[in-house]
Amino acid sequence: MSRSARSDRESSERVTVSSVPISRETLVPLTSAVDVEAAWLDRLVVAACEMPVSEGQTAVIEFMVRSLGEIFPDCGVGACLVEPPASLSTPDLRALGEQQLFKYVPEGEERRGVGMDPTRLFPGYAYERVLDVLDDPASGSTLHLASDDPQLEDDESPMMHVARRAALATGRGLGLARGHAKATLDARDLRALNSHMVQAEKLASLGQIAAGVVHELNNPLTSIVAYTDWLLRKQGPNGDPDSLERLRRIGESAGRILRFTRDLVAYARPSSEVPVPVSLHTVIEQALAFCEHVLAQHGAEVQRDFAEGVPPVLGMHEQLVQVFVNLFTNACHAMPADGGRLLVSSQLSAQGSHLHVIVEDNGHGISLEHLPQIFAPFFTTKVDGRGTGLGLSIVKNIMDNHGAEIRAERADGGARFVLVFPARS
Ligand SMILES: Nc1ncnc2c1ncn2[C@@H]1O[C@H](COP(=O)(O)OP(=O)(O)O)[C@@H](O)[C@H]1O
Ligand SMILES: [Mg+2]
Repeated sequence: MSRSARSDRESSERVTVSSVPISRETLVPLTSAVDVEAAWLDRLVVAACEMPVSEGQTAVIEFMVRSLGEIFPDCGVGACLVEPPASLSTPDLRALGEQQLFKYVPEGEERRGVGMDPTRLFPGYAYERVLDVLDDPASGSTLHLASDDPQLEDDESPMMHVARRAALATGRGLGLARGHAKATLDARDLRALNSHMVQAEKLASLGQIAAGVVHELNNPLTSIVAYTDWLLRKQGPNGDPDSLERLRRIGESAGRILRFTRDLVAYARPSSEVPVPVSLHTVIEQALAFCEHVLAQHGAEVQRDFAEGVPPVLGMHEQLVQVFVNLFTNACHAMPADGGRLLVSSQLSAQGSHLHVIVEDNGHGISLEHLPQIFAPFFTTKVDGRGTGLGLSIVKNIMDNHGAEIRAERADGGARFVLVFPARS
């Protein structure tokens, strides 16, 4: 039948679409498919099962559709593939998956778009059979055969045998492809986990060494700081200027070593805190209270712009306070000697799934060249000894532990840090 005759009939005839559930038991032996070359069937089944899974399910389906189209040159062959989301654990794949339609018509191969009606791929043909793709009943993927030959309606026809066999092979091919995709994802997760563990082990041993060093250093350093203070007071404001200057330098240097050892321990020490629902606004207020001294030193004005009805996040309170203490301290260090401004704002994402906190200052800002490096351990631009270069890498570690993200931006006349936390559902 010519294409135009087919189109004429298309408008006048109602076509029944049926879905035939099949199982291995109901498969008719292929020996009865007399008019289909055995070599074709072999090629079809073997290729679908042995096709490298790295090709992915789209390749499996394309191959099946093209091969069947070649076996039945007068038929339309198609498939509706419902691709599951990356994680295969969701029970209702159909609701979340993305649908792709493939068609092979006698004129050639055609691949159709996404999200079209999968119930009739071939409205131009009188008869269309729709077979569930085996091994994957939940996904809703289907194989379609369409023809003008009424024999197609007959379950005993050789074409139906082949179609069922093809659906079985497609199902296996899909199963393999999906298995491969999942294994690839698992392997990637495993590699990431492995490198995290190596890093954690390194940090744990660094933490032990650091804790030992800090313990040894703490007492003598505290004595140095205290005695320097005592000597400074004893000299009084009218003391020998040279001696006063030297004493001040001793005090500052000892303070610097104390800060460094404290940061090193904070960087490396594994935390024993467990996640609980935490109000970020409370965390921020506590961090601001901790930073009262350094904020006052820089004459910083603090502006809060908190969103209403913000849900808690699942987190470790102490660690989160540390995040904001580090950010506020950095902001103060960058601010002008007086007239500093610190803006802390929060907002809930449109879907309510994430919480954004923005920390912005009017300091000297971060140069474009430094921007990619600031979260790296030991990166500091502070030449006056106030920096250890560990603050932001501690922040980044803590954010990672919370499944949260942080990024730094250049703001108008200052720096901006954007923190994105998953809201607790
Ligand atoms: N608010 C900010 N404004 C300007 N530069 C900043 C700010 N926060 C961080 N930085 C830059 O990032 C670097 C790394 O910060 P950090 O890891 O906390 O180390 P440290 O404060 O000890 O130098 C700082 O030395 C500074 O150059
Ligand atoms: Mg810092």
